[in-house]
Amino acid sequence: MTPSTPTSAPEAMTTATPVGEPSTTTTLVHRPGGGAGEWWRDAVIYQIYPRSFADGSGDGIGDLPGITARLGHLARLGVDAVWLSPFYRSPQNDAGYDVADYRDVDPLFGTLDDFDAMLERAHRLRIRVIVDLVPNHTSSEHAWFRAALAAAPGSPERARYVFRDGRGPGGEEPPNNWTSVFGGAAWTRVTEPDGTPGQWYLHLFDTTQPDLDWTNPEVRDEFEQVLRFWLDRGVDGFRVDVAHGMVKAEGLPDWSGTSAMIDGAHEGELGSEDGSTGAGNRGPMWDQDGVHEIYRSWHRVLAEYDGDRCLVAEAWVEPLSRLARYVRPDEMHQAFNFSFLTTLWRADELRTVVTESLVANDVVGAPTTWVLSNHDVVRHASRLGLEVPGSKPNGIGAGDPQPDEEVGLRRARAASLMMLALPGSAYLYQGEELGLPEHTSLPDDERQDPTWWRSEHTERGRDGCRVPLPWEAQAPAYGFSPTGESWLSQPEAFGRYALDAQRGVAGSTYEVYRSALRLRREFRLGSGSLAWVDGLPNCAADTVVAFVNREILVLTNIGAAALRLPADLELVHASQDLPVADDGAVLVPTDTTVWARVGR
Ligand code: GLC
Repeated sequence: MTPSTPTSAPEAMTTATPVGEPSTTTTLVHRPGGGAGEWWRDAVIYQIYPRSFADGSGDGIGDLPGITARLGHLARLGVDAVWLSPFYRSPQNDAGYDVADYRDVDPLFGTLDDFDAMLERAHRLRIRVIVDLVPNHTSSEHAWFRAALAAAPGSPERARYVFRDGRGPGGEEPPNNWTSVFGGAAWTRVTEPDGTPGQWYLHLFDTTQPDLDWTNPEVRDEFEQVLRFWLDRGVDGFRVDVAHGMVKAEGLPDWSGTSAMIDGAHEGELGSEDGSTGAGNRGPMWDQDGVHEIYRSWHRVLAEYDGDRCLVAEAWVEPLSRLARYVRPDEMHQAFNFSFLTTLWRADELRTVVTESLVANDVVGAPTTWVLSNHDVVRHASRLGLEVPGSKPNGIGAGDPQPDEEVGLRRARAASLMMLALPGSAYLYQGEELGLPEHTSLPDDERQDPTWWRSEHTERGRDGCRVPLPWEAQAPAYGFSPTGESWLSQPEAFGRYALDAQRGVAGSTYEVYRSALRLRREFRLGSGSLAWVDGLPNCAADTVVAFVNREILVLTNIGAAALRLPADLELVHASQDLPVADDGAVLVPTDTTVWARVGR
């Protein structure tokens, strides 16, 4: 097969497989290559959540010097790039996703000089750096919002945000019935400078995160300048927060649905047909056609810089064909594949989502991304240990049904090895390379996620996946901070997961990831192909995911019984130690992924 740039989905081709048995067939759904070989097409990108990665100052909150000091770990792990969650000036009401100054570093995390030092070190280690851009809303501490509060209704200062008069007598009712993603109303009423009850402003998230009005050219201009500010400093791209939310439907019509970034959707259901629930988010504040013009203009800005900078969309949009519109050739370069993240641990559903992802992105010539964990969802090592494996609660607390730690980790390793063999770009969330579970017994009084109180304590929220990393099993705060301080307490189990307890230990999660990244590069899986393999001996389609990428057969066994690896395959990697049968056959037990080289 020769590399090609598919402009439309390749015809599914069924051919005899190179894998042993004559009964097997393969169905090609994605050809290798694509694009001009840009780095982001097949990159492994590691998400750093700065407040929880490494603390250099000792105040218990991670910072940029801490990151710089630990970049060697990421170079050894073998990632291509990092994405940093926000480190900008912020009152930290939503852990930095409430930005007060887009051009400065919050003193909690360091200084602009610390940023430059981190960037330089990363680049010296050949690690690219993507930063977070939060354009849907600012912090209420942003100079623009303060000016808006001080100005009169109808002023240019208010026109940068979504201020409206209230409904009902005296404007006492909010302008419409929208609710915030974090719970409660999406509108807050202000007191006018003269002390009278005034207009309302829109905030799809916390009260302290007022939404900007993207129909205002001043807003557009400002964000192009912000992009240039960081591009001029040398960043390699931007992760665009809430990329599906910036434009609202004309007239802000009422909508009876609830908006959820995270919900308990499972069994392939991502919300009701009318979009009134679920992560599909089809309300009048989500996925409006107007957002695409913004990304076209940003694409042009990035294109002025070396041609290798990228934009990745955080867009909770369904179906995948709709998401693919964000990565058309003149828009963004990647979009997070949350459909993959929300798929249950079932072979047929995994196969379907992988096919749909590749086909949808091939139509627009974009790489597919793969992601299993991030700072907004329960860690996949715990989600996969739940009674419905892969379901997605909004946080887990001590009183909730607890995941099975051992089973969850086993499945997480199998899922990660499947993901890292898929063609496209893969995102890792800090700590997953250690197999970290969610902190499910975090005391409620430590919780900082606004979801917890905005939902009136019905949703635990996201703190459990944001607990500071364990680096050294025996050190205070497991090596996260030199003083032993940690902004969220770490569970005792973290000692077992610490990096120094796993480095050099054959079969540890860390070593399984490290080998996977090395082999993925060696076999060029990220820029490779995908053909489903059917008919392997004792591999039922509803319990086994089997595909070939270039010369590697990837086999994930989700069924209860162990499989026998066909004898003519050369084992390359596995998510667990593999037992051997009496007759010498290598067995693939339940919840295990293997990579094997097919006959050449
Ligand atoms: C994104 C971020 C999330 C944040 C929200 C509001 O979804 O990933 O952490 O709370 O946007 O900015």
